[in-house]
Amino acid sequence: MTLEEKAALCHAQSKFSSKGVPRLGIPDVWSADGSHGVSDEKLWDEWSGAQWTNDSCTAFPALTCLAATFNPDISRLYGKSIGEEALYRNKTMLLGPGVNIYRTPLNGRNFEYMGEDPFLASRMVVPYIQGVQSNGVAACVKHFALNNQEISRGEINVNISERALHEIYLPAFKAAVQEGNVWSIMGAYNKIWGVHCCHNDLLLNKILKNDWKFDGVVVSDWGGVHNTDQAVNGGLDIEMGTYTNGLTTQGHFPFSSYYLADPFLKGIKSGEYEISKLDDKAARILRMILRTTMSVNRPFGRFVSPEHSLAARQIAEEGVVLLKNDKQFLPITQGKYKKIAVIGENATRSLILGGGSTSLKAAYEISPLQGLKNKYGENHILYSMGYASGRPLYGAEEPSKLNIDSLQNAALAVARDADVVLFIGGLNKNYYQDCESGDRKSLSLPFGQDKLIQAIQRVNKNVAVILLSGNAVSMPWLDKVPAVVQGWYLGSEAGNALADIISGEVNPSGKLPISFPKKLEDVGAHAFDKLSYPGDGVSVYYKEDILVGYRWYDTKNIPVLFPFGYGLSYTTFQYGKPVISSKSITPSDSLVIKIPIKNTGKVVGKETVQLYINDEKSSLSRPVKELKGFKKVSLGPGEEKTVSFTLKKEDLSYYDDKENKWVAEPGKFNIMIGASATDIRGREDFILK
Ligand code: BGC
Repeated sequence: MTLEEKAALCHAQSKFSSKGVPRLGIPDVWSADGSHGVSDEKLWDEWSGAQWTNDSCTAFPALTCLAATFNPDISRLYGKSIGEEALYRNKTMLLGPGVNIYRTPLNGRNFEYMGEDPFLASRMVVPYIQGVQSNGVAACVKHFALNNQEISRGEINVNISERALHEIYLPAFKAAVQEGNVWSIMGAYNKIWGVHCCHNDLLLNKILKNDWKFDGVVVSDWGGVHNTDQAVNGGLDIEMGTYTNGLTTQGHFPFSSYYLADPFLKGIKSGEYEISKLDDKAARILRMILRTTMSVNRPFGRFVSPEHSLAARQIAEEGVVLLKNDKQFLPITQGKYKKIAVIGENATRSLILGGGSTSLKAAYEISPLQGLKNKYGENHILYSMGYASGRPLYGAEEPSKLNIDSLQNAALAVARDADVVLFIGGLNKNYYQDCESGDRKSLSLPFGQDKLIQAIQRVNKNVAVILLSGNAVSMPWLDKVPAVVQGWYLGSEAGNALADIISGEVNPSGKLPISFPKKLEDVGAHAFDKLSYPGDGVSVYYKEDILVGYRWYDTKNIPVLFPFGYGLSYTTFQYGKPVISSKSITPSDSLVIKIPIKNTGKVVGKETVQLYINDEKSSLSRPVKELKGFKKVSLGPGEEKTVSFTLKKEDLSYYDDKENKWVAEPGKFNIMIGASATDIRGREDFILK
């Protein structure tokens, strides 16, 4: 290959593609967003859709929902299905999944990620990648690393201890590389150690490529590259989305002016840059092409197949979390009530559109209202909108032009007259409501929903609140309603999945991959000054350090609304006493823990048994609990199964940032078996020699 041919591999030629080598029959690299479905074709040089008529995809549930399934098999199904869609569309690379850790409930992109716990995210990301890549399509894990907020994301310098970096924010990426063998990874917009992540020598060359032995391609986030020297030397392989004229985010500008285009080539020719840098990038890109579009084993794809709809529905049904269910208020079996009021904008609004780069052109979307009508029959459902979302303005929210009082009055009239009310609200992927490029402004539900729910429950006590969101929200009305369901964003099959859960045809089995705090000040990232979140525009300091999510609440004794790992079922489970294989082990041994679990209710159900460890005495302080195992089991009524876990040295280790290594310190460890992070059903302990 000529120098020009190699250099052409390293930068975009269009919004979502980079050149191959036509002379040698090496195809171009085509990528598509995102992790929830394969996005529509875009115009050559712009973000806008190209208006093709054959590119409407299956929308799968958002990744928070996937994480809530606590089921790696479901994650593999997700990856396989979305990978088949990407393959049908002849993509080289699917731009996802995202595994940035949930640090604050305000982060606009949390719905795209897999929750607050590094172990959960690691276990879930690996099968997703394997599923995608079994189709000969590269998964592109993102955003590496520390893109945990949208405010100032393009320039903020994240200051974090090496320990928190390695224990909390990197494990899912490391698992993606070492266990998932992911073929590409996307750099993040922000900086760490004062350098942008897309060309950060320490992050990309040292940690990713040297320590973890990543042999794939580092792709920049779109517009995440800032200068040629760093782009050449800082571990980046493909530069995408650079706004070359510095003024516009789209339009016509020469791709040849990208930092890794002519300036790179010029530097190679003048001897400023070593040719080995170019060869390494080209080799990595060719390796990815050989693994994907040039693979002789590349199977055929499928697009919007019935199997994909089924998969989307199954993922949604396993991820929905039942948060509250007083006196078995739910399920509402068919025929139980004559008049069911459905209230709330999210019952009809598209929740596949919006949110930023995960916005999809879907082949279809069953709304919650449609799903409920299908289930209970049109005649039994009365719908009223109840509230209306505002229009986002820069830095503010313009209230809807619809009259709020009349909306509320109409809803109350419907509620008063009904046997039962299903309130379907939440956030909606509008700016500041779970959307890229901006964080939420508060923990509260927007558009007057809190008031509306309270007003509804004054006229009808039989209210179930169903929240569709990718983030935790506060619930000032929680005591007053008998049932609450967390429904995330559920994709094409949303309505069918919700109706299956509400009617009891499917027993809910999702568990929260995030904690629901009572108030924002309770969150670790928000317990300090502004420098801790959102920073001062230049820097942000992760002052809560390793105490993210339940690690913070537990260690600081802060009660939450709903804890990590929590979720109810229509049945009940009894946990037996844990039995361990030994009371003392050496670092080379593994420890086996077994727990009998029994379905003590009347319906089939699935329970996720969780294993947390605690290091009783440690040179470095450790959280009260760390998740190190989970297993989801399905049990018929009265059925009992034994769940077993294996712990190894790595599960007991912390990251020692003085020595730069993982250390399993001898001493006593406690094992806690729980139905959530705060509902511990069994304990054991052992000595690590
Ligand atoms: C997002 C990425 C996305 C890319 C391409 C960026 O703004 O951060 O997640 O893959 O755009 O749409």
